[in-house]
Amino acid sequence: MAIIYDEVNKIFNLQTENSSYIMGVVYDKYLVHIHYGKKLNYTANVSDMLGFSVNRGGSISPFDYGNEGLGNICLDTLPQEYATYGSDLREPAFHAEYSDGTSYTKLLYKGYRIYKGKESIKGLPAVYTEEGDKAESIEIELYDELKKLTVMLTYTVLPEFDAISRRVTVINNSDCDIKLKKVMSTAIDFNNDKYNMTTLNGSWARERHIERVPLHKGVQGVDSKRGASGHRHNPFIMLSGLDATEDYGEAYGFSLVYSGNFEATAEVEYNNATRVLMGINSFDFSWLLAPGEAFYSPEAVMVYSSTGIGEMSRNYHKMYRTRLCRGKYRDSVRPVLINVWEAVYFTCNEEKILAIAEKAKDVGIELLVLDDGWFGKRDSDNCSLGDWVVYKEKLPSGIDGLAKKINDIGLKFGLWFEPEMISPDSDLYRAHPDWCIHIKGRGRGLGRQQLILDFSRDEVCDYIIDAVAKVLSSASISYVKWDMNRNMSEIGNEVLTADRQRELPHRYMLGLYRVLEALTSRFPDVLFEGCAGGGGRFDPGMLYYFPQIWASDDSDAIERLYIQEGTALVYPVSTAGAHVSAVPNHQVGRTTPLHTRGNVAMTGQFGYELDLTKLSEDELNVIKNQVETYKAFGTKITDAALYRLKSPFCGNVAAWEFLSDEKDFAAVMVANKLGIPSAPNEFIKLKNLVPDAEYRERTTGKVYRGEFLETVGIAYAPSRDFNSVMFVFDKN
Ligand code: GLA
Repeated sequence: MAIIYDEVNKIFNLQTENSSYIMGVVYDKYLVHIHYGKKLNYTANVSDMLGFSVNRGGSISPFDYGNEGLGNICLDTLPQEYATYGSDLREPAFHAEYSDGTSYTKLLYKGYRIYKGKESIKGLPAVYTEEGDKAESIEIELYDELKKLTVMLTYTVLPEFDAISRRVTVINNSDCDIKLKKVMSTAIDFNNDKYNMTTLNGSWARERHIERVPLHKGVQGVDSKRGASGHRHNPFIMLSGLDATEDYGEAYGFSLVYSGNFEATAEVEYNNATRVLMGINSFDFSWLLAPGEAFYSPEAVMVYSSTGIGEMSRNYHKMYRTRLCRGKYRDSVRPVLINVWEAVYFTCNEEKILAIAEKAKDVGIELLVLDDGWFGKRDSDNCSLGDWVVYKEKLPSGIDGLAKKINDIGLKFGLWFEPEMISPDSDLYRAHPDWCIHIKGRGRGLGRQQLILDFSRDEVCDYIIDAVAKVLSSASISYVKWDMNRNMSEIGNEVLTADRQRELPHRYMLGLYRVLEALTSRFPDVLFEGCAGGGGRFDPGMLYYFPQIWASDDSDAIERLYIQEGTALVYPVSTAGAHVSAVPNHQVGRTTPLHTRGNVAMTGQFGYELDLTKLSEDELNVIKNQVETYKAFGTKITDAALYRLKSPFCGNVAAWEFLSDEKDFAAVMVANKLGIPSAPNEFIKLKNLVPDAEYRERTTGKVYRGEFLETVGIAYAPSRDFNSVMFVFDKN
């Protein structure tokens, strides 16, 4: 049983294989957080751990004077499971405004329901369970008697992944409107502050770099106000013990299954208690909840590891790969692709594409992706978004004709779309100038020369579903790259009433998810890859619809060491699109060897993004070899357990081990940044092999015992700039 209720002590113990999440009801009223961390089986006296909740200077007792007679407690120090702003004066998990203008909510415990499995969330992506999983869920009802407001906390325990997911449903049972201002998906009160906080930060072409800093007093965290999860921060934070390493210590991951504005904060109080909150960004958010209506928060997924950060990542990888990603490509080997963007940019035409396709076929590539520039009058980024009809002068045979020709060469065909956008210079804009996000009477600022289609409107979503579906059913298209290149600004429309305008960004996400659900279920054989100016929307929400996302517009192998390691802190390797591109690299101008570009790209969803017609025979032969090698791996790298042996954030060398579940295959990708004269050897020590088994390295044929590889390791000398080796070990 994953969820145990101790009726005598009123304690809920949510148990994964290696963790416990414990809550209790105190004074028959308050739902308090007792423990999240190492597994506890005995719960009778765990509420002693609360150490609550004496009145400190400046605190207020929540009880009506003389009425409730329940002692001198104060909510300001009580570790609450879902705090509101009131006599708890810390950052709240929930905040709402009532028709009388007040904003205090008093949520008291009402009841619970435990059930097997997991229910889906209306209109939102979420982790799912399958027949045979050990998952159980619990709903705990909190209620504000005066305001007739229900706040339902839903938890699912996913024992196999040491994960607990949380979400919140708010129901207005009153006969007045209620304005929601903050509804966090998860909230945890830790009783101390001895943690580092890790966040994934960056910018365009430099996404998800790892930053780790100790917690300090006050509020700290990351957020997005951009209308997308964004390049700058990712909807993920980790709290880890100050002494935690890859293999040692405690790590708590918090990951939000959402692609829009988010916030993730930790507030450390005077008494060192730490409150973690994560959910839709409350900044500029409000939601009018009419009588009888419900509001559903997105889901936050938490993973706990007592054996280091690596184990937390591996659990996220397995769970997101098998219980968040869906569809045909979840479990199957994906085609090695070539995307022609960096080969032709906006100058695509049939002749060039077919020439690249011929070469691609020769080297064993399986799918060709035609990127931007194929539609409307699109010769640069200044027009035609919204007009999803072929650019006949460039592609006289149409998409259908081109796809056939590519198929005849022996490749599958894929196509780029940016469906959420509209160019002011487009037929769609001329017909529907009000379909973009805008504020009446104000100018419309451009980002990459474009505006955003207002996906909070049903008719806009329906139009786009039809427009994309029309293209997809008109030709043999096996793959779609779904791009999104502009963040939200001047947010408004002329449809929502004044008191609902600030609902737009969340309504947009609900509209987008509806569109994605419609298209991915109507075209189940199409492989969808997400993209947002590279990795500007690399989040779990997107992974529910797209099993892979283009990790970054930066395809430089050295920058990718950072990006791919940061991404894999939480996201599976199978989800991160990674391509070999030309040198000097188009983003940073660096010239790295072809084998290093290949090795680094092979530690993601592998592909190419360069003009094969410009390469020498020797280079094509190297590529042919790379493609063969990658195909021989199958899913052995993308679906493996990842062990970070050396981090590029900590030194000159990155080393990542990809180990099969059976421990009979291990690939180790080692790459260095700068070359060092007379370089001292780095010893790369593998992890978690079978100690007394023999492992044969594929290139050298050398045989090593597992224990040797773990304790002595393989020597690697970083003597040349940007060098790398892919060691591959098979167990004898
Ligand atoms: C974005 C994407 C790129 C490419 C271009 C096309 O920048 O991230 O991969 O598709 O758009 O315009």
